Amino acid sequence: MFSQKPIILAPMAGLSDRPFRRICRFWGADLAVSEMISAKGLAYGDRKSQILLAPDRSDQPYWAQLFGAEPEIIRDAALIALAAGAQLIDINMGCPVRKVVKTGAGAALLREPARAEAIMRALNRAPAIPYTIKVRNGWDEETRVLNLFIEMAAEHGAKALICHPRTARMMFSGQADWQFLSQTALNAKVNAALPIIGSGDLNDPQSAIKALNLPGISGIMLGRGTLGRPWLFRQIKERLKYHHEWAPDSALKRDTIFSHGELLKGEYGEKTGLLFYRKHLAWYSKGLPGAAAFRQRLFTLNTFAELASAIDELFAVPTEEGPDFKQK
Ligand SMILES: Cc1cc2nc3c(=O)[nH]c(=O)nc-3n(C[C@H](O)[C@H](O)[C@H](O)COP(=O)(O)O)c2cc1C
Repeated sequence: MFSQKPIILAPMAGLSDRPFRRICRFWGADLAVSEMISAKGLAYGDRKSQILLAPDRSDQPYWAQLFGAEPEIIRDAALIALAAGAQLIDINMGCPVRKVVKTGAGAALLREPARAEAIMRALNRAPAIPYTIKVRNGWDEETRVLNLFIEMAAEHGAKALICHPRTARMMFSGQADWQFLSQTALNAKVNAALPIIGSGDLNDPQSAIKALNLPGISGIMLGRGTLGRPWLFRQIKERLKYHHEWAPDSALKRDTIFSHGELLKGEYGEKTGLLFYRKHLAWYSKGLPGAAAFRQRLFTLNTFAELASAIDELFAVPTEEGPDFKQK
């Protein structure tokens, strides 16, 4: 799965849902990771967690992310996810959000390496579960445990380690420290056996390709940079392959936006779909002439039909057939 350096859609709670994963896969994401799903929720049959987990046939192989703190519950949840159609399970060991950390999950595991190791051991027990872990550099500057986590992950059979090279304490402030990630990956003796994937601040083709070419880096994930710009995957690939700058024309953008709306409506229904769509539309409209007025208007429009007219006005291009995301 990681033999050719993949360009991947990062897991984003509330955002990397089935519709957005489908849109990003269409635009060239080699893989995508689901939103984080509660291991406890899955293990105890919680309906919301089951819905989050459901696979999408256009997003294969399916890589689902779990969060939790209890090794056995995580193993049970991972088995449920595999049975539901996931091919690879990522364990969230980097989320710094209070709600997650206070349960001992996410970045809290960076402060509890023994527990993190017990989770990896449980997943690697026969029959072994194909899994990856996603971490940050450490909890804070004083406790950068990345090296230790690379060693543990390699020892306990992880398929890859993903790192967002900030500390948990930094949340999203400052900059992702790609030099630290590259150096640590390179220095880790086990590196050859364990692909290291980086995630953080890759918002344009130049920075993405630079990161992809860093020593020790086996792939990259894109998160916030894809919001309103899912074609970023294609832009990176065009530059990598043909060394040229590519950008979608406004008809392609518009078709993507409409397809995204259709997928959201299909996934969540008109009412909830609209809430998600407005959020994405605010990102999609960024930088377009008339975007500020469009964004103000967004919150006064209460149906997909009304939004469609507003989008048409924003683009003011004739309607035509676009890429068919449903058939992919
Ligand atoms: C809104 C949002 C939600 C996120 N949710 C998750 C998540 O569920 N699991 C996870 O491992 N990382 C999550 N992340 C972190 C991203 O996967 C990524 O590592 C981070 O945003 C850095 O990459 P970027 O600068 O390309 O966004 C989230 C980030 C954002 C902005």
